[in-house]
Amino acid sequence: MTVELDTRYLGLGLRSPLVASAAPGNSDPLIAARLARAGVGAIVLPSLFEEEIEGELVGLDRALEQGTEAFAEALDYFPAIGPLVGAADRYLRSLERVKAAVDVPVIASLNATTTGGWVHHARRVQDAGADALELNLYHVPADPRRTASVAEATDLALIAAVRGAVTIPLAVKLSPYYSALAAFAASAIAAGADGLVLFNRFYQPDLDLDRLEIVPRLELSHPWELRLPGRWIAILRPQLGPDVGLAASSGVHAGTDALKALMAGADVAMMTSALLRHGPEHVATVESELRAWMVEREYVSVEQLRGSASASTAGDPAAFERANYMATIRSWTTPPDLTATAPHR
Ligand SMILES: Cc1cc2nc3c(=O)[nH]c(=O)nc-3n(C[C@H](O)[C@H](O)[C@H](O)COP(=O)(O)O)c2cc1C
Repeated sequence: MTVELDTRYLGLGLRSPLVASAAPGNSDPLIAARLARAGVGAIVLPSLFEEEIEGELVGLDRALEQGTEAFAEALDYFPAIGPLVGAADRYLRSLERVKAAVDVPVIASLNATTTGGWVHHARRVQDAGADALELNLYHVPADPRRTASVAEATDLALIAAVRGAVTIPLAVKLSPYYSALAAFAASAIAAGADGLVLFNRFYQPDLDLDRLEIVPRLELSHPWELRLPGRWIAILRPQLGPDVGLAASSGVHAGTDALKALMAGADVAMMTSALLRHGPEHVATVESELRAWMVEREYVSVEQLRGSASASTAGDPAAFERANYMATIRSWTTPPDLTATAPHR
């Protein structure tokens, strides 16, 4: 029995629903080539940050200003800007090198929070050969004067601005923390996104009690983290319809995880942590697990799998969530040794 793994995502025809999500190594042509050989359907490059592009623009302005200065000491005035200059150009070069190294679509990623001079850079990414663009909206709404509606309006203006700058497909990588995610997802599509990546993973720093310092901590994900994007994809797929691209990101480590993402309604299952932990060749392992399960259950295509588990909860997702919440907390059974009367102190 043959199994068809090809899928469509953002209007792109992909040979596999397993996609390498944004990660630092993906901009290395050797790693990208290993991912492609292992069978990925597409590769997402790490994000270029708005701050890096703006830094480059500021650096250019300052360099021009400095050229007109007569006094040598004035030339030392902005010593810190150096490393930022060139980040955007370096990004375009690595995009071109990765494109040349692989035969699968390459999706560039920009991380931004405001519309500004950097937006024109989306066009340069397109001109450098990106097959699609992922706009990574990563911000923490910590300003007490900024309401949810203002924050959402800013995000939607940003999506519209980037949409206006490019003609290639546009995906938006979202956080799970919108107060009304279903409405925001629909608005993001109306603003011009062709698809959504659910979800960005947020990293909180830790407190080092010895040094009394806040330290960054990057933990790779665990498979249980797929449940949040999985549930939202199941809710959104019927609402957004079959043509909107949906990518599951967070917790896809094995074939079973990819299956759950696809059955919830995703077009693609993205992986970063699993590939960092096991190497690019892990894609082939996940693909063979996916194929084996499909053969055993007589599924012939990804098309047939997609969304097969989302339809049953499509009627009233909010009521389903409440019932599920009640059922979940009531499903806990206390271990017998804890039910014995605890000694009083
Ligand atoms: C080391 C590392 C770097 C990452 N860099 C980016 C990035 O540049 N842009 C982005 O959108 N996501 C980035 N991510 C997030 C991943 O693309 C992915 O969304 C997240 O890790 C959840 O997927 P996973 O469970 O498969 O790891 C990064 C993740 C890791 C672990």
